[in-house]
This record gives sequence, C-alpha cells and structure tokens, in this order.
Amino acid sequence: MNVHVYENAQLASKAAAGLFLARLLSKPEAVLGLATGSTPIGIYRQLIEWYREGLIDFSNAVSFNLDEYVGLSGEHPCSYRYFMNEQLFDSVNMKETHVPSGTAQDMEEEAAAYDAAIARAGGIDLQLLGLGQNGHIGFNEPAESFSYGTQVVDLTESTIKANRRFFDREEDVPRRAISLGIGGIMKARQVVLCAFGQNKAQAVRDMVYGPVSPACPASILQLHQDAVILLDEEAASLL
Ligand code: GLP
Repeated sequence: MNVHVYENAQLASKAAAGLFLARLLSKPEAVLGLATGSTPIGIYRQLIEWYREGLIDFSNAVSFNLDEYVGLSGEHPCSYRYFMNEQLFDSVNMKETHVPSGTAQDMEEEAAAYDAAIARAGGIDLQLLGLGQNGHIGFNEPAESFSYGTQVVDLTESTIKANRRFFDREEDVPRRAISLGIGGIMKARQVVLCAFGQNKAQAVRDMVYGPVSPACPASILQLHQDAVILLDEEAASLL
C-alpha cells in the first residue's frame, strides 16, 4: 500500500485525477472502475475541467461502476447511474459506460453478466474506491468472509444511516445493492482509494494497520500489489 496524506481533500482529489490522466495517456483504451458517494465528486470535477481544457480524452475508454441500489432504475435521482451521468458521464466523452442494473428481473444473472462484461473488456486497469465508515468498499459490508464476484448484498444499518442524507426519508434508502465483489476489486491492476474527513479515520486505521479481515473489507487492500491510498489530514489522523 502506498499511503499519501494531503493537506486537504481538494489536493488529494487532484492527485487521484492525476492517476486517471496518467493511465489514459499510457493506455487510451483503459478500463476504468468508478465509484460513487461524495468522495469522488472532486475527482470527477477535476477530470471534467481537464477534459474541457483538452488535457484528457476518454473517447477510447470504457468504465464500469462498482455498485447500484437494488430497486432503483437509472432515472431515479438517487440511483448511482443517475449520479454518474450528472457528475461525470454527461460532461465527458467516455466511449462506453456500465453501471450494474438495480432493476434487472434476475439479479443473479445481472451479476454474472456484469463480471463477464468486465472480463470481456480485458479487466479493470484502474479502480477508484471510496471507503465506508465501517470499512466497506463498493457495497461489500463487514462480513464473515470476503466476497468474490459481483453479487446482491444486504446493506448494514450503519451504511443505511450514512447514505440516508441522499434520500428524503430513511425508509426510502434501499436495503439491498448489487456490488462488485472483493475478488473483482482485487483483480484490478491498480486500486486508488480516497478517504476524506474525520468520520473515516477509524476505518482508515483499520484498513492500513488492522489485520486483513472481512470485518474491515478494505483491509484486503494491504495484499494488493498496487494500491494507492489518498487521504486528507483528518482521515489520516489516527495513523
Ligand atoms: C457508498 C458507496 C461506496 C462509497 C461509500 C462512502 O456506500 N457504495 O462506494 O465509498 O458510500 O461514501 P462517501 O464517499 O459519501 O463517504
């Protein structure tokens, strides 16, 4: 793990965007693994700015998002497809974008098809990750064992509470999601995890210093051959 601490989230976001720029310069047809939540917003803003300036080009790149809420269609303003369109896809020239469907008739089939599509595209080159307050990555919640492929997961109370701010009422927060598994994340050639703010400090500590354990899913990144961790000072305060 390469851990870098920046004075603030804005600088760390710029560093993360820089890794996308570097990747696309050396491999224009890169497969990008993308994430949602508030953490990546500054990264996407920077990428859009560089795209407008003509510094970065996505016209040969393909993206696969980590996860989606079960039950929300892409038109729902709280869906991750909607978020991605708003925050990035509508503003850049990505060749192809993929977000798992939360409304497929057969979710297991959707999960298997998603993994197959990633494999067909050649596998993920750069996977961007946020970090849940309980150490989750994607929607891989603390569990007894590490997940492997894309699957439907039950969200924990802590995650439902943390994500409640995006919804009108707590009962509107979906209880299930479809998420790339830990195995899928670990297969990415490079992983870039960003965490900002005091409320991530304990999860960051467990991820970096804790035992590799499914009780803190992000701790598996200690075993990744190319994991870059970008933090602001608050998120790094317990290191
Ligand atoms: C959600 C997403 C994760 C994200 C996490 C943290 O649960 N599924 O991919 O990392 O939230 O979100 P935030 O960046 O808003 O703190």
